[in-house]
Amino acid sequence: MSTSLSIKDLQVSIDDKLILKGLNLEVKPGEVHAIMGPNGSGKSTTAYALAGHPAYEVEGGEVWMDGVNLLELSPDERAQMGLFLCFQYPTAIPGISMANFLRTSYNAVKGEEGEDGKKKPIPIAEFRKKLLEKMDLLKMDKSFARRYLNEGFSGGEKKRAEILQMTLLEPKVAILDETDSGLDIDALRIVSEGVNSMLSSERAFIVITHYQRILDYIKPDYVHIMYDGQIILSGGPELALRLEEEGYDNIVKSITQNGNGGN
Ligand SMILES: Nc1ncnc2c1ncn2[C@@H]1O[C@H](COP(=O)(O)OP(=O)(O)OP(=O)(O)O)[C@@H](O)[C@H]1O
Ligand SMILES: [Mg+2]
Repeated sequence: MSTSLSIKDLQVSIDDKLILKGLNLEVKPGEVHAIMGPNGSGKSTTAYALAGHPAYEVEGGEVWMDGVNLLELSPDERAQMGLFLCFQYPTAIPGISMANFLRTSYNAVKGEEGEDGKKKPIPIAEFRKKLLEKMDLLKMDKSFARRYLNEGFSGGEKKRAEILQMTLLEPKVAILDETDSGLDIDALRIVSEGVNSMLSSERAFIVITHYQRILDYIKPDYVHIMYDGQIILSGGPELALRLEEEGYDNIVKSITQNGNGGN
């Protein structure tokens, strides 16, 4: 299959307010796409709508993943198809340990069906081995596995926990929503290495970010600028550098003036 994700003229509203106003994006296996754009332009809305968050009403357009109409699937089914979202603001779940949470989501997404059609959970010892391996990769202290999910985690620890979940679920399309925000310099490198270790010709990444810096570590094939619910300009990695220099205002102005972003 040549396309991981194909988004055509997607329109999404929240509380009757149209936020995404015709989004187009083609993502192929093995590609890394960065989405940048000012606050409120609809980046997280895109991520949530793709994941199937019920508050995000799809008003029009299509989303295809491996030839399947994603918009007809429940959030669980989308995850089973191999779609994963790293949240911009991960929530705490008191009372559930991180290890339990991760094992439950692993079984739900990756569990193999037994002869009775029910999913066979992964043996606990086997999962634990996998988990510790991945935690090691992300240089996370083992004690995190026993802690309640995200409760009292620092901002950077939450982001690392999200990436840990991603490395376990091995998605086909991973969307990272500002995973770099709040990470210290070492954590940014470690998290980026975790992402890079997962790069493969079968997997695609969509990296939502405000800062060019993470793109020094996770090298994008394409950079898109989102503005007012649409992608208004796409280019290569150099676009992120241009953005850093010129800022959104100038780029938006040059697009509205001559219709091609001044390229
Ligand atoms: N529940 C909601 N009710 C009303 N408006 C909302 C709701 N959620 C999001 N919006 C609006 O949708 C717009 C897009 O928000 P979104 O979170 O997608 O922006 P973003 O590009 O991710 O911004 P940021 O860079 O700040 O994360 C914003 O104007 C926001 O206020
Ligand atoms: Mg956002």
